[in-house]
Amino acid sequence: MCGIVGFVGNKKAAPVLLDGLERLEYRGYDSAGISVIENGKFKIEKTVERIKNLKDITNNGEDITGTIGIGHTRWATHGAPSFENAHPHISANGKITVVHNGIIENYMDIKSELIADGFKFVSETDTEVIAHLIQKYYNGDMFDAIKKAVDRLEGSYALGIISLDKPDTLFAVRHFSPLIVGLGPDGNYIGSDVTALIKYTKNAVYIEDGEIAVLTADSAKFYNKDGKEIKKEVSVINWSIDAAEKGGYDHFMMKEIMEEPEALRKTIEPRIKNGEIYFEGLKLSKDKIKHIKRIVITACGSAYHTGICAKYMFEELLRIPVDVDLASEFRYRNPIIDNESLVIIISQSGETADTLAALKEAKARGAHILSIVNVVGSSIAKASDDVIYTWAGPEIAVATTKGYTTQLAVLYMFGIYAAKIKESADNKLLGELVSELSNLNKKVEEVLELKPKLSDLAKKFCQEQQVFFIGRNMDYATAMEGSLKLKEISYIGSEAYAAGELKHGTISLIEPGRLVVALNCYEDLSDKLMSNIKEVVSRGAFVLATAFTGNEEIKKYANEVIYLPKVHPLLLSAVEIIPLQIFAYYISLHKGCDIDKPRNLAKSVTVE
Ligand code: F6R
Repeated sequence: MCGIVGFVGNKKAAPVLLDGLERLEYRGYDSAGISVIENGKFKIEKTVERIKNLKDITNNGEDITGTIGIGHTRWATHGAPSFENAHPHISANGKITVVHNGIIENYMDIKSELIADGFKFVSETDTEVIAHLIQKYYNGDMFDAIKKAVDRLEGSYALGIISLDKPDTLFAVRHFSPLIVGLGPDGNYIGSDVTALIKYTKNAVYIEDGEIAVLTADSAKFYNKDGKEIKKEVSVINWSIDAAEKGGYDHFMMKEIMEEPEALRKTIEPRIKNGEIYFEGLKLSKDKIKHIKRIVITACGSAYHTGICAKYMFEELLRIPVDVDLASEFRYRNPIIDNESLVIIISQSGETADTLAALKEAKARGAHILSIVNVVGSSIAKASDDVIYTWAGPEIAVATTKGYTTQLAVLYMFGIYAAKIKESADNKLLGELVSELSNLNKKVEEVLELKPKLSDLAKKFCQEQQVFFIGRNMDYATAMEGSLKLKEISYIGSEAYAAGELKHGTISLIEPGRLVVALNCYEDLSDKLMSNIKEVVSRGAFVLATAFTGNEEIKKYANEVIYLPKVHPLLLSAVEIIPLQIFAYYISLHKGCDIDKPRNLAKSVTVE
């Protein structure tokens, strides 16, 4: 999704903007641009290629001397990726430039009005109306003009604005799109997320909906939606710059896979005390947990898949119904929520627009909102009654890996914690699960050693057109995520099927040589899965199976087996997904795909 950066200070702005934009590249984009005030004029550079192109044409930004500027990576929504549609957009009189992340829903009405006023439009974007609207309202006071303009906007926006009439001031506004201000020793910064800022400062101010930031080289003032100055808390970012860099790996995705054991350790270890799960500062009372009659989990994409894994686990341990809903569907179908329901929201970025909207819907219906989030201070974290953080550190690759496994870890811990309070599961089982959880990182470490084997297998299959993932119960939940990982980064068509469903249609797609990844670690249903493997093998499929070490039987039927260390079935997905992430990575690598930034995808999906 679009990313915005901005800087005002005592050094050249362009190198800072380009560096920030490069760090936001992971969010996904198709064009980019910067605008810097230099000698009383705007210096605007745009590209429909990579940020590197902007760096090349500006000598890494060094050729532009101005010390105030804004920058943008665009993920097209209104109008194709093109030079004209790339931000920054400039007002008709050439005096104001604007970058925008979000969607202005009423832009057509405003555009008609501005055209009637004589404004000429050069782009197809919704953003251009903002630049003209600020010009229309400008009467010598930029703050007042911005305030009047944003009061007219409906939809979502984070804006960075600079003007030639106030060349020492960077304005920023937020409404439903993420925006952070960084306070540095040599100037002040804005960014869509902390990765754009952490190289320069760790002091961040999280801007809330409706607020306006007014920044100069040595001052930062904040105003609420009524235009009244407010004091804002300065938070210290606890991510290091190394965590947001590749650190010797060719791709962020592999770096993040290799970080999974440590991310799991950091997420789990502090929450186990004397053999029991403990969540610091949880507002959800034990009494409330005791009386919960239903859990609703809502999320998107991979985060939704962790919800499916949790459903299997929670229903087993808590013996209450658990519904898992795609956040993009949840709010459009009159969901049944009451005060005996607990709503769990899952999001790595904490900024996914659909998930945030589902949260608001559930909150409006009176539910207690417990979120599982990776990014501290993100919109979802702030809007929730309770947050349990996944301490995974920054996740840059578009395809989530450590985000996924740490979300699972938190869900596992919450399941055990709630079962203990509800007294709905055997204490011995809960104790075993806690002890397995504390070893989960070591098991994942073991699985990482399968990299060479998985790379060889991937070489063999990287030209496939279509792959099937099958499994039952927890293996089925994992199959969904394995299949998503493969298709999103390798562009190979892939489907996940509950193995028992094959006969209801899909088996007609099996033909000689078709790769079927059969997940076979859920041992209670291993015999049944084995029958499904036989069905596809007899139709010519090539079966790559997973199994726990020691399962010799599977070798009789599967063409290749990935052996994994044994883990409790309720905690299975956190271990079994690792080889599937690695397999997807190598397939994509051998195919020559852009692993970290797959086409058309964005890391942080901040539009609906
Ligand atoms: C897939 C992937 C996405 C995200 C989804 C939700 O690899 O990363 O499916 O899981 O867009 O994102 P968050 O967790 O940030 O809400």
